[in-house]
Amino acid sequence: MVAADQESFFATAPPLGDAVAVAAKLQEFIARNSSRSHPSEGGGRRRIVCVTSGGTTVPLEQRCVRYIDNFSSGHRGAASTEYFLKAGYAVIFIHRRGSCQPFCRFLPDDSFLNFFDITTESKVQVVESHTTVVKKAIGEYSKAIEGGSLLKLPFTTIFEYLQLLKMVATSMSSVGLHGMFYLAAAVSDFYVPWDSMAKHKIQSAGGPLDMKLSQVPKMLSVLRNQWAPLAFCVSFKLETDSEILIQKAEMALNKYKMNVVVANLLATYKEEVVVVSNGERNTIRRCSKDEDLEEHIIMLLEKSHSKYICSSADACSKN
Ligand code: PMT
Repeated sequence: MVAADQESFFATAPPLGDAVAVAAKLQEFIARNSSRSHPSEGGGRRRIVCVTSGGTTVPLEQRCVRYIDNFSSGHRGAASTEYFLKAGYAVIFIHRRGSCQPFCRFLPDDSFLNFFDITTESKVQVVESHTTVVKKAIGEYSKAIEGGSLLKLPFTTIFEYLQLLKMVATSMSSVGLHGMFYLAAAVSDFYVPWDSMAKHKIQSAGGPLDMKLSQVPKMLSVLRNQWAPLAFCVSFKLETDSEILIQKAEMALNKYKMNVVVANLLATYKEEVVVVSNGERNTIRRCSKDEDLEEHIIMLLEKSHSKYICSSADACSKN
């Protein structure tokens, strides 16, 4: 049933406009980074992580005027990408267009122009008080892009997101144990299938809108079992009710055979997460607003990924 649902989702989704170009970029990125070594103790092959970030939209019309959105600024995915790069991972960053970007988290959105001064008639420069943060951001971003360690792939709709995830996951199957999925994007649970969606703008003259949404097939089990069976998989669990959070995270861990589930509550997700893995629960809290929770999450995950690679490689060599 699940397999049929996910097949029908992909069969009826509008195809990605730039699928051929994305596939070529991906192949090149994975081949280049797989041939490098990882800077962790003992070296080994370079690790590649796919970070997903931002919320997916559900269009209500094919020529979309209205859509349903999912809560997510993309901050967690962007910050995590920075820390994965620091830890020596190559990162495929699947992100919502217009959401928070790595190395740009400290740059303002609304007061962007406050960052600049006109010095002479033809020159604009960054104001003194912001030069340190801008220089740091440019330096780190350029290093990641020019060094070929960061590939950014944008999405808006649930159709684009899941097609990109499938493409990345199947391409990353060659990376085996050294691949990781870090699924921080807020993914729609309900959608309107493309073939039953209104083509043009829904008219208000018809009175109140009565609409039945279908369930988006969960892709975690397909990711685990078919697309990238050897990868280290980290999914997120977002709830608003603290009473059910850990229980739901543990359910996801077992049902989808994730290696780790990061559980967070909407009210406190910036301050605290619980990292749930087989037999362990680690609560990570940030001590001050200047601290990034993500730095601690990534440190913990890097260690768990190292253990996973060693224990799985041992198991393979014994068989
Ligand atoms: O971006 P920020 O503003 O910093 O916020 C970060 C965050 C709160 C969005 C992030 O920490 C977070 O919790 N992301 C996951 C949100 C989410 O979709 O939770 P969920 O409990 O609905 O889904 C659980 C998992 O199932 C997710 O990893 C998702 O990738 C996956 N899923 C969901 C729906 C679906 N149809 N298929 C899926 O595979």
